[in-house]
Amino acid sequence: MNIAVFCSGNGTNLQAIIDSRGKGHIKADIKLVVSDAPDCYALIRAKNSGIRTLVVERKNFKTKKDFETEILKALKKENINLIVLAGYMRMLSGDFIGAYENKILNVHPALLPSFKGAHGIKDAFEYGAKITGVTVHFVTKDMDAGPIILQSSVKVTDDDTEETLAEAIHEEEHKIYPRAIQLFVEGKLKIEGRKVRII
Ligand code: GAR
Repeated sequence: MNIAVFCSGNGTNLQAIIDSRGKGHIKADIKLVVSDAPDCYALIRAKNSGIRTLVVERKNFKTKKDFETEILKALKKENINLIVLAGYMRMLSGDFIGAYENKILNVHPALLPSFKGAHGIKDAFEYGAKITGVTVHFVTKDMDAGPIILQSSVKVTDDDTEETLAEAIHEEEHKIYPRAIQLFVEGKLKIEGRKVRII
């Protein structure tokens, strides 16, 4: 199976996925790292691991469709069967998602359906949640709303700052995202309506 990882930022999840593959825990090839942010550290991580990178910036295309077509072309060329969003901070269109139906995963830094959006950690912290966590889910056209594959909880203590909470959340992401990816690779995820059964 050929995986493409989409990133916009630091790429710690990408690194966890690369490391997991290195240890033989993910039995698939990470063929391509796609980014919309030319200066993001995730691209350096990919290069350090010898993974091909592709930067496609939205500003260089007239329409979202043209932008996504460029990405899809590259995915086709690399025979990508699974897209892993790892801090890719851009909404994909329904058409794009349709081209990879039930083959796009995302990690979100909160227990969905709580604290959707781009600031899951901050939002949960400021709301005063006592328990938050991490969700890995399939991507559908509605933001952060696809069937849930794995979740892991993280306690928020009185001593936590947003930074310490973020650290704890990232640590959890780095454990469950590679696990969810390997479940997909092994064909163990069965979507039944809103539910994902692990077979
Ligand atoms: C991760 O915490 C991920 O959950 C979050 O972006 C961060 C990327 O970190 N994604 C979202 O908030 C998506 N809504 P990384 O670049 O170090 O992997």
